[in-house]
Amino acid sequence: MDLTQAIYRRRAVREFTEKPVDEKTIRRLIDAAVQAPSAINRQPWSFCVVRDKAVLSKISENAKTHLLETAPPDLESPHIQDMLRDKSFDIFYGAPALIVIAAEGPSEWAVEDCTLAAQNLMLAACNIGVGSCWIGLAQSWLRSEDGVKTLELPEGHVPVAPIIIGYPPVWPPEVPRQSPDIRWIG
Ligand SMILES: Cc1cc2nc3c(=O)[nH]c(=O)nc-3n(C[C@H](O)[C@H](O)[C@H](O)COP(=O)(O)O)c2cc1C
Repeated sequence: MDLTQAIYRRRAVREFTEKPVDEKTIRRLIDAAVQAPSAINRQPWSFCVVRDKAVLSKISENAKTHLLETAPPDLESPHIQDMLRDKSFDIFYGAPALIVIAAEGPSEWAVEDCTLAAQNLMLAACNIGVGSCWIGLAQSWLRSEDGVKTLELPEGHVPVAPIIIGYPPVWPPEVPRQSPDIRWIG
């Protein structure tokens, strides 16, 4: 698959088979992630790989409770509120692994750098048939004291991009895009 194919084929994958993603493959994805550009080449990222099912389920439960308690405006829709209240809803969709990219602060651009690393990782995953999805629902709890402790992050590391990975039973269909708002100056 060439780069253009990977860009157009990548999708948010929300259904996974039982097949685990092996360590070699995960290292390959992280290696692609760190090829991303970073401001002043600081490479201000670290990676936490969670494969323990009990920990994944603990994060999912805590993240749902935290979101219901803090009620961020983006998640006010009744549909999302119902999902968060649903005991059986796993924010990680049963994925066998979660990779959390954390920013090593303080750096003016650490979040941007980690986001670029995340996109590299997702495109590299798509290229080898591994599905991925950024799970924003996990972010606020992962940034809490308990979340940071659960990820065993060193002092000053802030979770930026929680990305699930795994093998989808079928590759999801294309999600249409709005036509971009472009202004041409000159
Ligand atoms: C910052 C960010 C947060 C996201 N959070 C979630 C999430 O919590 N749960 C989820 O199922 N998808 C999440 N997504 C995936 C988006 O819903 C998905 O990318 C979007 O619907 C477009 O679909 P596509 O990626 O298949 O093109 C997130 C994506 C981004 C970039």
